[in-house]
Amino acid sequence: MEKITALCKRRGFIFQSSEIYGGIQGFWDYGPLGVELKNNIKKQWWHSMVKFRSDIVGIDASIIMNPKVWEASGHLKEFTDPLVECRTCHQRFRADKKEELKAHEKTEEIKPIDGKLFTEPKRFNLMMEVLLGVTEPKTTAYLRGEITQGAFVNFENVVNSTRVKIPFGIAQIGKTFRNEITPGNFTYRSREFEQMELEFFVREKEANKWFKYWKSERIKWYESLGLKKANLRFRTHKEDERAHYAKHAEDIEYNAPFGWSEFEGIHNRGDWDLSAHKLKYTGEEGEFTPWVIETSGGVDRSALFFLINAYHEDKDRVVLKLHPKLAPYKVAVFPLLANKENLVKKAREVYDSLRTEWMTAWDERGNIGKRYFSQDEAGTPFCVTIDFQTLDDDTVTVRDRDTTKQDRIKLPELVSYFEKKLGK
Ligand code: GAP
Repeated sequence: MEKITALCKRRGFIFQSSEIYGGIQGFWDYGPLGVELKNNIKKQWWHSMVKFRSDIVGIDASIIMNPKVWEASGHLKEFTDPLVECRTCHQRFRADKKEELKAHEKTEEIKPIDGKLFTEPKRFNLMMEVLLGVTEPKTTAYLRGEITQGAFVNFENVVNSTRVKIPFGIAQIGKTFRNEITPGNFTYRSREFEQMELEFFVREKEANKWFKYWKSERIKWYESLGLKKANLRFRTHKEDERAHYAKHAEDIEYNAPFGWSEFEGIHNRGDWDLSAHKLKYTGEEGEFTPWVIETSGGVDRSALFFLINAYHEDKDRVVLKLHPKLAPYKVAVFPLLANKENLVKKAREVYDSLRTEWMTAWDERGNIGKRYFSQDEAGTPFCVTIDFQTLDDDTVTVRDRDTTKQDRIKLPELVSYFEKKLGK
């Protein structure tokens, strides 16, 4: 993890929020490379859920909603985590994170005489409050604790304004806020994060079938973007850990350096939400309350696991073997020597021809070896070098990040070469 966090800062993937003022716990900023990675994850997700399917439509609901939404959905009452405090050092922990409690127990030499290191658990609500209005009394509202409710409260709007028929889905990507008791493990547990969610509306009798279908689709999606199968698994929630809305829940977990960790939840929410908001659907069989199968992924946790999964050390170089669709830059262009005007001019032409199609980096610092090293660490799949031979025969060297093999490609064929390798 230390290597990943250092790389993220050094190369501009992820910075601590408000760092020059000492930071703020549980909040993170994405730098120039990080924002590209995150956007690429979201784009791939949106394509697979919305663009390439005819049974799912997208929405973008507001972050702040009428507080009655959260009352009806049960979040104001039930969206809680149990907190305990160490009676020796007063550090706080989630009572349900048994491993963290055990680890702390080992570090604490002085134990209270009665042998109980932790206080009795107390439940704390995770919803983040905001005050609306400029004059007193201000109205208490909440930053959404899951993006999900936006899809439910717009259920009728979507049905009435589109041609969707059950089974169909509403997809959404957006920010979520939770007053996490113990933010930690870098971006893994944050207080502000992004979710990418599908709420799929089905008939009750088909709920199990769709649950299985979405489980398989979601894990295939992560694998298709390079997450190693051996580091992925499903874990079924025990009854006492299921969220208040879930009839059945399974997590997709990644084998992270800090242990197997959830980064997507697949939930059978039954008719919990639509019933709570008193919403129904009229189908051929008459009026009924649909059931919901939900896939709820974390963009930040995915980004973190894609980075961890991609991190390789190969002799003296660090290589981020990100899937080309996720890599922040797809290509980098180098003039062999920065002080040779004709090389730089030619390289600029190549750079301009590529950057309208793909995120393309430019580098003329130091020697070619250092530039390769730098692009490997940023995850750029291909580097193009313009050298003296280019001026003679209009060919360039294309070097592959993963194999380090070099191809000599004719310039007029360069765009179609990358179209084959990278897609459009
Ligand atoms: N709508 C269902 C829902 O919100 P969840 O299991 O609470 O379900 C879904 O959250 C996903 O959101 C998680 O699998 C994780 O990827 C992400 N997530 C949840 N809490 C998070 C946190 N504190 N920091 C970063 N990501 C988080």
